Amino acid sequence: MYVCLCKGITDQDIVDEMDQGARNLRDIGKRLGVGSQCGRCCQSAKEVIQDYKSLSNSMSLAYSAA
Ligand code: FES
Repeated sequence: MYVCLCKGITDQDIVDEMDQGARNLRDIGKRLGVGSQCGRCCQSAKEVIQDYKSLSNSMSLAYSAA
């Protein structure tokens, strides 16, 4: 799914950058240019980042409980 139409950035592009060490919208903006033009994508990008963090946290909990 496209998150940033101005830059042609998808949710998977954001997830890939999170996997590579990005930690927040600022990092994603620097790396991919998300939010650097019209800015309409910022809220959607934040949601993708939050979903990523929630999933990462639940996976960490699952591993630590095992
Ligand atoms: S949609 Fe991302 S900057 Fe315009």
